[in-house]
Amino acid sequence: MSGHEQVEQLFAGLIGEHYELLKVICPAAPDMSRRVGARVAAWPAQPAPLAGLELGCGTGITSVALLSGREDLRLLSVDSEPTMLNQARSNLAHWLEQGRLSLAEQDALGALRAQPESSFDVVASAYTLHNFFDSYRLDVLREVLRVLKPGGLFVNGDRYALDDVREHCRSVQGEIQDYFREFGRLGRYDLLEQWIVHLHSDESPDHIMRLAPALDAMRSLGFADVAVEYRVGVNALVTAVRPC
Ligand SMILES: C[S@@+](CC[C@H](N)C(=O)[O-])C[C@H]1O[C@@H](n2cnc3c(N)ncnc32)[C@H](O)[C@@H]1O
Repeated sequence: MSGHEQVEQLFAGLIGEHYELLKVICPAAPDMSRRVGARVAAWPAQPAPLAGLELGCGTGITSVALLSGREDLRLLSVDSEPTMLNQARSNLAHWLEQGRLSLAEQDALGALRAQPESSFDVVASAYTLHNFFDSYRLDVLREVLRVLKPGGLFVNGDRYALDDVREHCRSVQGEIQDYFREFGRLGRYDLLEQWIVHLHSDESPDHIMRLAPALDAMRSLGFADVAVEYRVGVNALVTAVRPC
């Protein structure tokens, strides 16, 4: 597959148009966005300003956490999906006007490849990398390492499948029940269908991002201090640095 063919439009249509309903079926998501912001805010490095890159900003939920957490952060947030980015433009108007934020409609790999080596202090992301094809994700991680400055921080709050396959299967069964209960309550069977299809993509063999192999891959690429700083079920906050 070419790079272009590896970028799927998983957030076009109903899912993207009603993305605010994600918190109904996945309350862990907004909490993780807050954690990504808090982790960057707590990072002691103080270059002025702090140059940050966000991959897959969506409607801007994690961007808000990042920008409100650190006054010194200048953020470039990229997303490949216009349906999401249009909402981000409106939700993040305050920071766009302040000049602290730039938004770009680009796929993550294309955006990374367009950046010079060692150009960012921080690369952050939430619930984006698990959507990628495995090979594309590996290319993205390789580029994250390249664009980070030595000592730079990578923070990813994401869906990492459980390494125990049976336990993971039970967890996904629970998610499906949650989807039916919550969307059934809202009478939104159209969204239920779309999110089940989406979950099927997340779980497919060429997408699924299991925790242990994902951490191993990052170490093999050359990331240092690869750590799981928080985890509840499939939701994990993973951090790493580019070695000095
Ligand atoms: C689940 S949403 C998460 C949005 C946001 N990070 C948040 O925390 O709410 C995943 C986002 O990744 C974007 N995305 C998916 N594949 C992408 C790619 N290859 N390049 C850039 N963005 C991508 C989607 O358009 C979507 O906005």
